[in-house]
Amino acid sequence: MSLERYRADFPVLDQEIEGKPIIYLDNACMTLKPQPVIDAMNEYYTKYSACGGRSIHKFATKVTVAVEESRKRIKEYVNSRNSNEIIFTRNATEGINLVGNSIGLKSGDVVLTTDREHNSNLAPWHLLKNKIGIEHKVVESNDDGTFSMNNLKNALDKNVKLLSMVHTSNLDGYTIPAEDVIKVAHEQDILVMLDGAQSAPHHAIDVQKLDVDFFAFSIHKMCGPTGVGVLYGKYDLLDGLSPFIVGGDTVEKTTYETSLFLKPPSKFEGGLQNYAGLIGSGEAAKYLMDIGLDKIEQHELELNEYVTEQLNEIPEVTIIGPPDPKLRGGITGFTVKDMNPHDIAMILDEVANIMIRSGMHCVHSWFNAKGIEGSVRVAFYLYNTRSEVDIFIEKLREIISTFS
Ligand code: ALA
Repeated sequence: MSLERYRADFPVLDQEIEGKPIIYLDNACMTLKPQPVIDAMNEYYTKYSACGGRSIHKFATKVTVAVEESRKRIKEYVNSRNSNEIIFTRNATEGINLVGNSIGLKSGDVVLTTDREHNSNLAPWHLLKNKIGIEHKVVESNDDGTFSMNNLKNALDKNVKLLSMVHTSNLDGYTIPAEDVIKVAHEQDILVMLDGAQSAPHHAIDVQKLDVDFFAFSIHKMCGPTGVGVLYGKYDLLDGLSPFIVGGDTVEKTTYETSLFLKPPSKFEGGLQNYAGLIGSGEAAKYLMDIGLDKIEQHELELNEYVTEQLNEIPEVTIIGPPDPKLRGGITGFTVKDMNPHDIAMILDEVANIMIRSGMHCVHSWFNAKGIEGSVRVAFYLYNTRSEVDIFIEKLREIISTFS
């Protein structure tokens, strides 16, 4: 499935550096931005750059309406029941911290994660362990990197209050069987939060079908602006949470002694917001929905199969995670015998403007446990092509034959 025609929507690709085109394969970190998203944000800054939700003049009203329109588009994107279940945050990290600090965890309560969490879904639990004495336990994956339902079932007991798990891994693109995980947890009345930072941009998400309680993701990984994230939560659960960051626009009424907080989502959106970013976020969701998430997913899978076939022919390369590329979405992480991943990334960038990510990808815990110093990672999105893969493989082979 070629989505090549959409490349023209991304002005950043319409340039050369040192006479060579750009091959951008760092999409698990950050995606590029299409013109409609840039236009929506520019329009805010040039035509009505006021504050939303407070003043009643024309500009302010336009901002409020545009932000709520954006919220509706995100609601549609994840298929939540209503827009009030969509909270704007700064990023997935903030959404995870919000839930961790607001669901009333107490000393002795257990939070379970997988063994391949981004620091965003690991460090918050360490902090809460030190602050209030929660326990954090890890569900080990199978040897091939797939999810172990047995290990999960063995880890569940009456002290487990929350499963907070990566939906799609930024390490290797593997997606856990979330519906089954959630079903098993709910049978024991345990809440589930998914870190959807790497799933929401690449697969159609249906929070109602998943029956997930909380779902956090970042807009900058899905063609949208930086500095905006989303936390979805079931409305009744959100209503029962204590607010996290409070201030202007989170309260219905205050006295010198008390604050009466508004209903969700307002009670979670304290202070003046990143209005341009929120407006751009709705535009990004619309852009992706108009193309179709199924088409995007299929396109990435095809590129990932193609790169995997070729990497498998290089003896020095070891792919991380499940060998079957169909289980790895649009991401391939790998190591190269006797070579430092950062050296490979630097040379690819230097010789051919091939932009990838190297290192531990904020999943230090997994790399440290395995004794691996890091990996090289390519991560595809809708604008990548087979010919970009060809150039990447050609340059990688040259680097390996020169330095390895
Ligand atoms: N989590 C992002 C990545 O994996 C930053 O690159």
